[in-house]
Amino acid sequence: MYQKVKGFRDIYGLEARYWNKVEKVFRQTFRTFNFEEFYLPVLEKTEVFNRGIGSTTDIVEKEMFAFDDRDGTSVSLRPEGTASLVRAYVENKLFSTPGISKYYYIGPMFRRERPQKGRFRQFTQAGIEVFGSGGPSIDADVIYLLYKLAENLGIKDYVSMEINSIGCPSCRPAYNEKLIEYFKANIDHLCGDCLRRLDKNPMRILDCKNESCKKITADAPKAVDYLCDECKDHFEGVKSYLDALSVPYKVNPMMVRGLDYYVRTAFEMITDKLGSQSAVGAGGRYDGLIQLLGGPDTAGIGFAVGIDRLVSLCMLNETEKENDLDVFIISFKDVSDKTALKLANEMRSQGISVDMDYDFRKMKKQFSLADRYGALFTVVIGEDEAAKNTAAVKDMQAGTQEEIETAKVTAYIIDKLRRN
Ligand code: HAM
Repeated sequence: MYQKVKGFRDIYGLEARYWNKVEKVFRQTFRTFNFEEFYLPVLEKTEVFNRGIGSTTDIVEKEMFAFDDRDGTSVSLRPEGTASLVRAYVENKLFSTPGISKYYYIGPMFRRERPQKGRFRQFTQAGIEVFGSGGPSIDADVIYLLYKLAENLGIKDYVSMEINSIGCPSCRPAYNEKLIEYFKANIDHLCGDCLRRLDKNPMRILDCKNESCKKITADAPKAVDYLCDECKDHFEGVKSYLDALSVPYKVNPMMVRGLDYYVRTAFEMITDKLGSQSAVGAGGRYDGLIQLLGGPDTAGIGFAVGIDRLVSLCMLNETEKENDLDVFIISFKDVSDKTALKLANEMRSQGISVDMDYDFRKMKKQFSLADRYGALFTVVIGEDEAAKNTAAVKDMQAGTQEEIETAKVTAYIIDKLRRN
């Protein structure tokens, strides 16, 4: 027996149903905010991520599925969508369209992390990116959209929003210096990874999960205390727009993000219902990234939601059924097989979901199949019915049955479904 690759998984049955629902709600919600779908490749040149995400991040240092293509080019399965979308935006010169651009994507991402509950090596993200607006109102609206997704999925009580400002290239260096000073004074507590990060990327230490590092990060200097006036005003603006939109949030001055491109606003939607993997969605502003990847100086902000984690949250609500089918037709070989096939497709063309037993087994077997599929109605065409050009239509919930002319069954079911 073959087994799947470690950290990869199969999604089917009830989980696939919830998955479907989540994607549907996402697409509808994204459209109401005027986002356009963008289909990105899953494979990119490795340099896109090295440059975009940052060479000292965990993702680039140790989590990429990177390999040399036959021509020697290093390529990687995308670990996230932002760098890819920025590459596409620049390569396709989409910046020449006036005004701001709003895109969304839904698809698999790949990170070679240690697999555990809620953390996989292939997972799916739904993300949005906005290019071309630097003001705080778009930050608030993007955070509102993340909140709205949770609300539209009926899980807003399971999540909370944390925000922070991590400064910009003009105030970050002074903050980094303070951090380095602080961590050097506590150097004995730092793990090996953090010792390496200390000079190159000290903010990453704040995100370290090592217990010993965590003890000292709690009292480390906070970015919000070192913001320049522009960043301070921007952050105040974000908060006041969020208040105007009545989005509940908490400022978490210790939140830094695991990707290097962020400036100013960073945010995470977290939950305490999924064990240690608490981030359901996260994002922030990345004003220098488009230029870094060869485009014009254009502001950018976005987020990505982990669909796998969100689906687990939605499943706590038990709104979906494993199976549901409008109609199951029970028919018999050389008696009603052709009538059944025709009737099934007549109903399907009216948008009714229909199935039948293509092996035309005994009535009892067919009823149990109808049960398994969760059919709302069964339409039985036995010998008696076939002779009269009728069908016995049974409402499986009410337990009632009526004999209907075969030609009128579709209209009858449509009417019944409408009333249900
Ligand atoms: P991220 O925080 O790395 O951000 O990932 C966003 C979300 O993807 C996480 O909050 C989590 O729900 C999900 N996720 C990440 N890794 C895994 C994993 N191994 N297994 C399951 N779910 C996972 C980004 O990727 C940025 N590109 C977000 C962004 C967009 N920032 C600006 N625009």
